[in-house]
Amino acid sequence: DVNYPCGSLFTDQVCLILFQIDKYLYSMRLSDETLLDITQRFRIELAQGLGQDTNPTASLKMLPTFVRSIPDGSEKGDFIALDLGGSNFRILHVRVSHEKKQTVQMESQIYDTPEDIIHGTGARLFDHVAECLGDFMEKHNIKDKKLPVGFTFSFPCQQNKLDEGYLLTWTKHFRASGVEGMDVVQLLNKAIKKRGDYNADIMAVVNDTVGTMMTCGFDDQRCEVGIIIGTGTNACYMEELRHIDLVEGDEGRMCVNTEWGAFGDDGRLEDIRTEFDREIDRGSLNPGKQLFEKMVSGMYMGELVRLILVKMAREGLLFEGRITPELLTWGKVETKHVSAIEKSKEGLSKAKEVLTKLGVEPSHDDCIAVQHVCAIVSFRSANLIAATLSAILLRLKENKGVSRLRTTVGIDGSLYKMHPQYARRLHKTVRRLVPDSDVRFLLSESGSGKGAAMVTAVASRLADQSRQ
Ligand code: GLC
Repeated sequence: DVNYPCGSLFTDQVCLILFQIDKYLYSMRLSDETLLDITQRFRIELAQGLGQDTNPTASLKMLPTFVRSIPDGSEKGDFIALDLGGSNFRILHVRVSHEKKQTVQMESQIYDTPEDIIHGTGARLFDHVAECLGDFMEKHNIKDKKLPVGFTFSFPCQQNKLDEGYLLTWTKHFRASGVEGMDVVQLLNKAIKKRGDYNADIMAVVNDTVGTMMTCGFDDQRCEVGIIIGTGTNACYMEELRHIDLVEGDEGRMCVNTEWGAFGDDGRLEDIRTEFDREIDRGSLNPGKQLFEKMVSGMYMGELVRLILVKMAREGLLFEGRITPELLTWGKVETKHVSAIEKSKEGLSKAKEVLTKLGVEPSHDDCIAVQHVCAIVSFRSANLIAATLSAILLRLKENKGVSRLRTTVGIDGSLYKMHPQYARRLHKTVRRLVPDSDVRFLLSESGSGKGAAMVTAVASRLADQSRQ
């Protein structure tokens, strides 16, 4: 067994269980050969998304972001960053100053985004954002200032410039009405104007991947890829402008938001999607869309595990066939449970805790089995991300015309950060799939908000320059 060697730590009986599960979930265990094949498919999709004629029908939208470089170190000032669309809605006050060197100070607050608001009307959603922003400015005594605002909005947006973003489609768990097709900057400006109690100047809309790349780019100038592996998953990278048909100009580079969550929406992943993936998709808010995201990201991973457990229990392979209403309830296994169950020391007792809450009265062997199911599902996720990231790395390598790629990838997202084995597995697989590269993985410690503030800082520096 390539991925899960049955070590000497296990008794014969446990080995048998693990072996059975490996067999049972055979289609979720992807060999390097399959992963390399997926890398090749993804490379083709990247090119199709970039091409003028192929873009309209391509599954990867490859959205130009109008971010042309990472910060040059000369930015300074006071900024606000809004971060909407990840696992938390956060507002930040970012101060960039220059004493001897550029330093960044941040204060932030998390605000609730209740279900009825993200599923209600768009007007209500943006009223809520504007209200939280007002509250934040009041608390930080900055309500009388008109600070530049950077808006991290973690959904696919069509941009023709930095300070506009037309929402193409909601993804993940958002579906407020009347926002698709609209410019979110205008919607937010309208909501702020309506209140009339403060002013704000929204200077940039950035995807969270872009914010992450910029945050990491602040610490490492070599950073040219940004990845999110959280509620959703996505990546951006610096592409040569001459390859981006949708934007004029041939000189230099621009960051492109791949929206790789939609990989497979054209049927190109059908051979590796399982019955569980199809079931997840059928029960989702956006059937047929974001198929890659549904195989890998945090919003779906717990649910994937639950569906597998239900099927195995039905077949008498787990819990002596016991099935409870809890086990049958959507959302009862969460991705954070998967992360807890895979911890090396307390994992088995966590498994017992989670399964006991589901009422299935697990035996010790059940706990071991469920831990192994979790490992297969999360391993598949890390492997698939490794395959798509490898395609981006190969593209960068080709663009630069070097025989060995040296680069930095900025990463953020709850799944990547919280899961005990995920990061290590991902790094290892990438290094195996793209051996002629030196890739540094940099965790974005302070989230994508700092990056959004940096984009804003660059934008306002350029705006100041052009005013002078
Ligand atoms: C979803 C969104 C994408 C975002 C990602 C991570 O895939 O469509 O824009 O970057 O989630 O939050």
